[in-house]
Amino acid sequence: MRSVIDILDLSVSELDALIATAEDIIAHPADYAEKCHGKKLATLFFEPSTRTRMSFEAAMYELGGNVLSMTDAASSSASKGESVADTAKVISCYADIIAMRHPKEGAALVAANNASIPVINAGDGGHCHPTQTLADLLTIWREKKRFSGLTVGLCGDLKFGRTVHSLINALSRYEDMRFVLISPTELKLPSYVKEESLKAKNIPYRQTTSLEEAMPELDVLYMTRVQKERFFNEEDYLRLKDSYILDPAKMTLGRDDLIVMHPLPRVNEISVAVDKDPRACYFKQVLNGKYMRMALILKLLEEAAS
Ligand code: NCD
Repeated sequence: MRSVIDILDLSVSELDALIATAEDIIAHPADYAEKCHGKKLATLFFEPSTRTRMSFEAAMYELGGNVLSMTDAASSSASKGESVADTAKVISCYADIIAMRHPKEGAALVAANNASIPVINAGDGGHCHPTQTLADLLTIWREKKRFSGLTVGLCGDLKFGRTVHSLINALSRYEDMRFVLISPTELKLPSYVKEESLKAKNIPYRQTTSLEEAMPELDVLYMTRVQKERFFNEEDYLRLKDSYILDPAKMTLGRDDLIVMHPLPRVNEISVAVDKDPRACYFKQVLNGKYMRMALILKLLEEAAS
């Protein structure tokens, strides 16, 4: 059974096909309105979420399918001590596909190994978040019309930010990419991501603590929230949370064709005044996420049926 746990579970040509499907959905939504008629998506969210869960649910409704939703881990059987493996087996009896978010790294893989239906990882701890990357890729594609020859700056919590890890893994497969990793020293990109993607593929990157210094060279700036829930102590979080604040003054240092992205939720890292700058793409990214989730649900259900 095909599941998507890591963005690397999808080949580059599959990503291209998902983008093409999403573009077709945007152009002809009515053609997709009944594609998943009679199918059920179960959303199992063991960690707080608004946009990702609703994005999956909206995606399934727009495909004409139905949704079974678990929104509160405290009121689920997990609070009685049920394992992720058992939950996956049980939900396989009710639904056709699962989207799961869990605070533990690897939980989605355990679910996939035990489910008899496809599992989509909607975020596993500080590890990865492949469907956010699908949203990010469609956004870059729609705004830039290419994935090669881009200088991408990632700024903020590169240590715990799972969206950053998945995006670097995905973009590392394209030609002529460069990364600028902008973070406080304590929140640098984990070495396993550097080793497996950047170093393994000889991709040029540099690390800096200065957003101002990086701004002029970027095609894409990907801002992230400091991941409060992954910190061991409040003091460190409070010290680091406002390390970077993108405001109109810093935007003047960026190129005219820069695009600014953020997986949201935003806390303080982009000032609201930036929202009206035409280079701000983070709300478009939200919509793109729904279309890419539609494309992915469709693909996995079609594969499961064949
Ligand atoms: C991200 C996540 O959950 O990792 N949010 C999301 O899915 N849109 C980013 C975050 O929470 O900071």
